[in-house]
Amino acid sequence: MAIGVFDSGVGGLTVHHRLVERFPTADFVYLADQANAPYGGRPGEEIVDLTRAGCERLFDLGCNLVVLACNTAAAVALRRLQQTWLPGYRRELGRPVNVLGIIVPTIEAATGLPWEHEAERRGDKVEKLDVLGVFCTPATCSSRVYEIEIDKRRQDVAVFSEPCPELARLIESGAGAVELAQCVEAHAKALATRIGRAPDRAILGCTHYEIVADMFRAALPPGTPLIHQPDSTAAALAGYLERHPEIEPGAGGSRRFLTTGKPGAQHSLVETFWGAPLTFEAA
Ligand code: DGL
Repeated sequence: MAIGVFDSGVGGLTVHHRLVERFPTADFVYLADQANAPYGGRPGEEIVDLTRAGCERLFDLGCNLVVLACNTAAAVALRRLQQTWLPGYRRELGRPVNVLGIIVPTIEAATGLPWEHEAERRGDKVEKLDVLGVFCTPATCSSRVYEIEIDKRRQDVAVFSEPCPELARLIESGAGAVELAQCVEAHAKALATRIGRAPDRAILGCTHYEIVADMFRAALPPGTPLIHQPDSTAAALAGYLERHPEIEPGAGGSRRFLTTGKPGAQHSLVETFWGAPLTFEAA
């Protein structure tokens, strides 16, 4: 059995990299739906269908757990799939399978509280002392998942999401550093203008953006803390595997990289981030 990691494209590799470090003996299959990337500008129903197809493919390949290393898929599709598709599919397969997202661990990291914790709602207005910026895709932004889930737990945190419609596509296509940095700077500036000042902390709420995290660091005031989704997801997976011994992550240390798009080597931006050549097989 193996752990599947799914994203629309190369962004999920930022999470995958950390998972591989944390679970060196586990077997992993990474699936990039590059034929359909980016997801961030697509209607919700399409994101749900594509995410379900990606999970099914990974389960067919012998995975028993899929980590959705994609904020867009997790924000738009995960709850729907868990409620309407997964229980029946599990029965059909006759083995325990599950899908984990990336939003829950990120919210836990951003609030410093476990997911189960919901703040007691007080009638009086709570002063917002902490301004959190979320850079994300338009679909994640429209879902308002970060605003809603953080507000349930921490009413002292003001969340401002900044949709970056072009950024995942630019990263996916291997755009040059100048174009990428200009795009990141424009969004950091737009967010600060909307808030009236720079955020105190930020979430790179699209896994692709972690590939250009240095550009975000340069565009935000020096030292602005960035909540690190790969770390929080790896910690959440460790807890999950401990609580679910029936989910067997394999022990062969194998790694497969599949794409629904063009197989072969990935562009240099990805290889630089990954630190080694990376060849994808056809899914
Ligand atoms: N990497 C994805 C995310 O975390 C998806 C980006 C996209 O396909 O638009 O949201």
